[in-house]
Amino acid sequence: MDVALSGIQLCVFDAYGTLFDFGSAVARHRAALGPQADALSALWRDKQIQYTWLRNGMGAYAPFWQVTGEALDHCLAVHAVDDAAVRDKLMDAYLALDTFPEVPATLAALRRAGMRCAILSNGNPEMLAPMVASSGIADQFEAVLSVDAAQVFKPDRRVYALVETRCAVKPENVCFLSANCWDAHGAAHFGFATVWINRGGMPDDRVPGKLAAEIRDLSQLPALLGVA
Ligand code: LAC
Repeated sequence: MDVALSGIQLCVFDAYGTLFDFGSAVARHRAALGPQADALSALWRDKQIQYTWLRNGMGAYAPFWQVTGEALDHCLAVHAVDDAAVRDKLMDAYLALDTFPEVPATLAALRRAGMRCAILSNGNPEMLAPMVASSGIADQFEAVLSVDAAQVFKPDRRVYALVETRCAVKPENVCFLSANCWDAHGAAHFGFATVWINRGGMPDDRVPGKLAAEIRDLSQLPALLGVA
């Protein structure tokens, strides 16, 4: 990993899994789901992302909210949960996911040092807005960008290109942060200096895109960028 992390003007964060804990949706309703809660949560995320890749391949974009609901319906069927109230609660929870504990202090440190910050997410604006608003970190971001503007999901290059046009910054001056390894590689392949937030301590994916660095959580980011 020898991609430069100098000259960075804008930090662009992925949302789900990076700033916001998608596992917190099922965690809040663990009692209603019983012992299969963790398996259902993991499958929900896997299917949600698989469906975005499938839709990209088919040229069949739909808002991430719809895709998230379709993935959940599959998972509820797999786990034989037939309860509309549980489905509604899980989807509602997705609009107010927990922020990872180190995120507020990290963003505050970056902003104190004059770093610009933005979000770039698969989420459609209608699902991102309430989550960011309820998180207490909304003021730290100059932009919350959604793939909806490109009508295609990550890791399509047109998604990452939104940053240059919307934030008036060259890709080489962007540090992209994602806990989703495939998203990190997509962003690196596009041309961002990219840091993988390897929260799970997983091996790297063997796909194109050279990462600049790998850290375990976002608390290490200010030091990595030399602004701590
Ligand atoms: C996002 C998904 C990839 O927020 O986590 O874009």
